Amino acid sequence: MVKIAITGKGGVGKTTVAGTLARMLAQDGYDVLAIDADADMNLASALGIEHPPRPLTDYKELIQERAGVESGIFKINPKVDDIVENFGVVGPDGVKMLVMGTIERGGSGCMCPASAFLRAFLRHVVLKDSSAVILDMEAGIEHLGRGTTRGIDLMIIVVEPGMRSIETAARIKKLSGEIGIKYLAAVVNKGTSAQVGQYLEDLGIPLLGEIPYDAELVRADLEGIAPIDTGGDTVAAMKVIRDRMLDMISAEI
Ligand SMILES: Nc1ncnc2c1ncn2[C@@H]1O[C@H](COP(=O)(O)OP(=O)(O)OP(=O)(O)O)[C@@H](O)[C@H]1O
Ligand SMILES: [Mg+2]
Repeated sequence: MVKIAITGKGGVGKTTVAGTLARMLAQDGYDVLAIDADADMNLASALGIEHPPRPLTDYKELIQERAGVESGIFKINPKVDDIVENFGVVGPDGVKMLVMGTIERGGSGCMCPASAFLRAFLRHVVLKDSSAVILDMEAGIEHLGRGTTRGIDLMIIVVEPGMRSIETAARIKKLSGEIGIKYLAAVVNKGTSAQVGQYLEDLGIPLLGEIPYDAELVRADLEGIAPIDTGGDTVAAMKVIRDRMLDMISAEI
């Protein structure tokens, strides 16, 4: 089983990549769980799921029960096997989906129950053989400090041709080493650029592939069609990215 987190600066295409990758792996026969870990919650539409499940953070009692506080210390009950079944939905290609919900903001290393619960959930979630958990993260790097991405095998940083998203990638690279993420890779989205490729190489972040600016995606987004169902340039580019990714993590999946 492999756990993959999709990260990067705001608006670079994390949700697009997460949703498309989840559907592709499911089409390949993997048992896929896609988790929306962004408070904005829009992974469902990128998966082609019309009715997303209620966010887990809505179930206050569940969180209290599973991540209760005892004398100021979080007591995590690692029982998570029922969560997907009871609180998830199954979408196109059989992708299972969960929505984490809104985690209270509290600076880096936030120890709020919802965050502790997500950390525990991610650490303990186990699926059948040939399975993948794909996490659509919120923008930026705060979640790295909070530890919600501990236990992730592969972190894919989505970068767009622009210096600010590369700076975010550099920060993620630095922090990912500190929290022991095994594999780190980048995807360039919304255009290709030799210069961006060079920056990534200098940072020591392997590039899985580049997705061109795709006008079809803009239309699909407005019409509520999942990127993978457009059959356009994004799909072709994502197939290359999927193949390179599978090569990279072949020991884990
Ligand atoms: N290759 C592309 N070509 C054109 N538009 C794209 C491309 N990739 C993504 N978009 C569009 O850019 C917008 C942002 O994409 P997306 O929601 O995937 O980014 P995000 O990184 O998840 O954003 P956020 O930080 O808000 O979660 C969407 O409207 C999406 O349709
Ligand atoms: Mg997003």
